[in-house]
Amino acid sequence: MSAEADSLPPLGIYLHWPFCSAICPYCDFNVHAAHKNTASQKDWLAAYRAELAHAHGLRPHGPVQSVFFGGGTPSLMPGDLVAGVLQEIDRLWSLAGDAEITLEANPVSAAEVYLQELRHAGITRLSLGVQAFDDDALRFLGRTHSVNDAQHAFAAAQDIFDSASFDLIYARPDQSLAAWQKELAAALALAPHHMSLYQLTIEPGTAFYARAQQGRLHVPDEDAAADLYDATQSLCAAAGLPAYEVSNHAALPHRCRHNQAIWQGGDYLGIGPGAHGRVTINGIKHASLAMRKPQDWLAACRQNGHGWQLRELTAASAAEEAVMLGLRLVEGRPLAELAAQGVMLDGTRLAALQQDGLLSAQKDVLQATEKGRLLLDYIIARLLA
Ligand SMILES: C[S@@+](CC[C@H](N)C(=O)[O-])C[C@H]1O[C@@H](n2cnc3c(N)ncnc32)[C@H](O)[C@@H]1O
Ligand code: SF4
Repeated sequence: MSAEADSLPPLGIYLHWPFCSAICPYCDFNVHAAHKNTASQKDWLAAYRAELAHAHGLRPHGPVQSVFFGGGTPSLMPGDLVAGVLQEIDRLWSLAGDAEITLEANPVSAAEVYLQELRHAGITRLSLGVQAFDDDALRFLGRTHSVNDAQHAFAAAQDIFDSASFDLIYARPDQSLAAWQKELAAALALAPHHMSLYQLTIEPGTAFYARAQQGRLHVPDEDAAADLYDATQSLCAAAGLPAYEVSNHAALPHRCRHNQAIWQGGDYLGIGPGAHGRVTINGIKHASLAMRKPQDWLAACRQNGHGWQLRELTAASAAEEAVMLGLRLVEGRPLAELAAQGVMLDGTRLAALQQDGLLSAQKDVLQATEKGRLLLDYIIARLLA
């Protein structure tokens, strides 16, 4: 291997599928109604292959350690399309023998035969959008599945894949601490390998945002949300699924390697409409962002071979990003690794944040305390201002 390849961070690929059968009222991801997808499977495969080839031209050194099919609802992708994309990735870079290959699924598009098809295509890990273990809450969230549907889909996923995870959204309007503890206990009773537990955020441009603006939707205040967060940390830890990142919980062997590598400063190629990526080219971190609208992106791939805009990150913004991402990890990041990414920290500022109980006092590692993990923007502002 060349010296350049040796010094490169590990490589992952994020691939975006931008369609959902229904758009949830809280979601501000790059999502579009599935019935508006007029392109054929052949067109999609050709476009993904073109953009993968473009990315390979810029970052040819493999192998690929992880692939993440995110969305949108990638479980609406035909199994053949998933298989075609993975074959192309393997052909271009080669997929590591133990590569982690995740796909996000919605319980309404996770029939057992389809999950088997995905397994044969090479998927090793499924992440299911359960959102709530309460049918009224699921209706409120605009979901079209029931608790029963989610439990069935998850049981199948646990049988079929090496690792299975689900997402839940808490700190919903009027959700009491006792109600969330009951829901979380129901979640833990399924013995998941991994859980992503997100506090509901009201994002501009969503239906929930409009309702909140009209005073018709209220999320728990900061204190109530902090109590819900604390209860989440202790219940999960007691069940053997401690947090390893702000919102992610797992025992060590089931941590999501793809996301963990990103938080540790790894490279990831963002393929598909609206996908973001980070690519090291000639030793410099670059950010890529693909066109958001599926039709525009498909046309750009047809005409130019990709829908990317690439920009070089300044040393200061690359350093800030490394700190921000690293502090999300419960174990933080070794200072020596951060220094290798260009991060120089001021000892006086570090000490002041340790004094305030927001950063841990551990030497050689930059690590937020549990309290600090909820205040990362504030920490960054004081640490790097
Ligand atoms: C791409 S989706 C997962 C797969 C699939 N689309 C689904 O929803 O079933 C990613 C996750 O982000 C979370 N999410 C999206 N918008 C959110 C918001 N406003 N607040 C909290 N969590 C949110 C949800 O838990 C969702 O499962
Ligand atoms: S939460 Fe999932 S299903 Fe709902 S709109 Fe967002 S990406 Fe689509």
